[in-house]
Amino acid sequence: MRALLFSAIMVLALSSSGQTDSITQLPEPSKVKGKNIMEAFANRASVREFDTQELDLQEIADLLWAANGINRPAEGKRTAPTAMNSQDIDVYLVNSRGAYLYDAKAHALVLVNTGDYRSVVAGTQKDFAKAPVFLVIVSDISRFRRADENQKLTWAAMDAAIVSQNINLYCAGVGLKTRPRVWMDSDKLKDVLKLSPSQRLMMNNPVSR
Ligand SMILES: Cc1cc2nc3c(=O)[nH]c(=O)nc-3n(C[C@H](O)[C@H](O)[C@H](O)COP(=O)(O)O)c2cc1C
Repeated sequence: MRALLFSAIMVLALSSSGQTDSITQLPEPSKVKGKNIMEAFANRASVREFDTQELDLQEIADLLWAANGINRPAEGKRTAPTAMNSQDIDVYLVNSRGAYLYDAKAHALVLVNTGDYRSVVAGTQKDFAKAPVFLVIVSDISRFRRADENQKLTWAAMDAAIVSQNINLYCAGVGLKTRPRVWMDSDKLKDVLKLSPSQRLMMNNPVSR
């Protein structure tokens, strides 16, 4: 009952703030929820049908932390490995109210743009735009040192795919729906997310209940 009440308060907090505050502090991720790892593998699948219901703030906090949060604070290391620990990946969240950068160190969402840009992430696959949340995976290839452009792009793709698989397995483990995707309206999305030239759009995952 208390958990239900807490969840309801979280949903209310999320919708009343409209999540358009410049910084939204996320609740501590729950490390005890979900199925066991083999059940998560057994359930992992890409879906095409997404529910429209909002995720609550705890679900968003857990999802982002699983995707690319800091799991070893003393070393500042992440749930997803990166080539030479370059930590080139940033995760952005796009919902009906705006686009946000996940600041893993602060475990917070930082507002980048207001407005509903889900159709920009969905691109030509318009049906997916009804998913309440997209996570967009971006690599800043300037964070790779001592590599040529080709190597940087290869490592960026590898690092992005690992983050996407974290999302896939997290969703399978807690009963959420997702699909790894490369399609998006990249030209528009670069502007929406205010990316610099070294920040490359790699993949996205719509997520719903
Ligand atoms: C790198 C990568 C990119 C993908 N891009 C898209 C995409 O843009 N649109 C889409 O509908 N599915 C996309 N998918 C999902 C695949 O179509 C899906 O994983 C595949 O059909 C296998 O189904 P399963 O994930 O349920 O095993 C992508 C998957 C991967 C691994």
